Amino acid sequence: MGFKEEILRRRTFGIVSHPDAGKTTLTEKLLLFGGAIHIAGAVKSNKIKKTATSDFMEIERQRGISVATSVMGFEYNGVKINILDTPGHQDFAEDTFRTLTACDSVIIVIDSAKGVESQTRKLMQVCRMRKTPVMVFINKLDRPAQDPFDLLDEIEKELEIKVNPLSWPIGSGDMFRGVYNIYKESLFLFQSGGQELPEGIEIKNLNSPELTEFINSKEADSLREQLELIRGVYPALNRREYLDATVAPVFFGSALNNFGIKELLDCFIDIAPSPLPRETEERTVMPDEDKFTGFVFKIHANMDPNHRDRIAFVKVCSGIFKRNVNYLHVRSGKMQKFSTPTAFMASKKSIIDEAYPGDIVGLHDTGTFKIGDTLTEGEKLHFKGIPSFSPELFKYIENADPMKSKQLAKGIDQLMDEGVAQLFINQFNGRKIIGTVGALQFEVIEYRLLHEYGAACRWEAINLYKACWIDTTDSKELEDFKKHKSQYMAKDKHGRDVFLADSPYILQMAQENYKHLIFHFTSEF
Ligand code: G4P
Repeated sequence: MGFKEEILRRRTFGIVSHPDAGKTTLTEKLLLFGGAIHIAGAVKSNKIKKTATSDFMEIERQRGISVATSVMGFEYNGVKINILDTPGHQDFAEDTFRTLTACDSVIIVIDSAKGVESQTRKLMQVCRMRKTPVMVFINKLDRPAQDPFDLLDEIEKELEIKVNPLSWPIGSGDMFRGVYNIYKESLFLFQSGGQELPEGIEIKNLNSPELTEFINSKEADSLREQLELIRGVYPALNRREYLDATVAPVFFGSALNNFGIKELLDCFIDIAPSPLPRETEERTVMPDEDKFTGFVFKIHANMDPNHRDRIAFVKVCSGIFKRNVNYLHVRSGKMQKFSTPTAFMASKKSIIDEAYPGDIVGLHDTGTFKIGDTLTEGEKLHFKGIPSFSPELFKYIENADPMKSKQLAKGIDQLMDEGVAQLFINQFNGRKIIGTVGALQFEVIEYRLLHEYGAACRWEAINLYKACWIDTTDSKELEDFKKHKSQYMAKDKHGRDVFLADSPYILQMAQENYKHLIFHFTSEF
């Protein structure tokens, strides 16, 4: 197969959801279709368990296990599918945001009884920012669900994207009869009992009397009526609009019962994008360029202090990545080659000789890489679109052992490179502030500093609301602002100015008083 065909047959995507909507279950069913796993439960055992919320060591241990499933590659109908796993745990949301930067598209799972939930909204914001094409899977139709039309309205409103249903449920809960596949114009009837790979019964013509052999005439009439309504409201899917991220195709089903999944998957491989061009600060990189380029979107550290190695996950953006070939690590300017790059096929990690655009390669890292680093064959490129997001929680970090200040500084630096949390240096007093998404990360940092770097830290409370990156065309106003707010000005890891707002009110006032400044909750805008 030629280079271009290899690119065109790749689909690299992430599945995201609010915890418990069914992301893990859906992932598992997709893997079953691809023959990548053979038993249900294989992915589940890697899931961060809900009961472990207060036990971060247990969570880290489980995260360690999940390295193997960080990327799940498999073949389905001649298509090479790479699913990028995202941690379901809310405290690791930043990990999820970063993983989304390596996805060419996204499937959002929504619980049909709960509708759009808080985490879904946040994740969608990231997709919107990057104009990532999204598909929606409305799950758990085998349970009492909200009205499907209401769900569609809610998605449009809450996720700020037009929807286009490509399958339609017949009833829900005990009355769930199946889904009509609008995309392929066929009917699949639900057989409860949770078979792994249901065949379904296909009925091409909805007006055929055969329909009432399987669902009663009331259900059949209601289905015909609803579909007519749908045809009136939603035009046929325009793939371009999906790829432009202005329309989200929607599917209904039950992941647990493996129902409605095949419809989703078949449509997905048909219309989801193959690796897309990527912007760098210098130019646009096309996937079919001859020369290899890629960027690091995730770093996973080994928690075992005896093996303090890390895996850097690199998304191949163009060319072919090859084992034992020298590549430029753009930030350091050094050439580096990798003798044991790994790829993740099925549930196995194995050493590979080459990887194509869209693929994810795991590189053994001894502390060279930072999130966002670029690798090339020599060109000095810097990939865009790997932003930092404002943390939710902030604390001053202090040295608790004066003999170990060097170790502490090194430990903080390396943990920040890994993306465990974000460091801000207050420009007024020079103190270090750590910002995180969840409370758990403070515990993780304290533990890891002590056990991996022999450094003891102490936390001091600080009342902050958000970190805001500032954009302006009026540099004089910015200087004026910085002078007035000097106590709240900080630098992020790249030396960019950040305003640490201590309340929404303060932020609002700042915005009113400084009309030409734009405050962003992300570092790229
Ligand atoms: P997540 O990764 O999004 O957090 O969700 P996950 O797949 O773990 O699913 C959350 C719970 O919802 C699980 O139950 C799972 O079995 C259930 N679930 C997923 N899809 C469906 C569905 O289509 N129908 C129904 N009825 N339930 C579904 P649990 O009790 O939390 O876990 P478990 O003990 O079953 O493993």
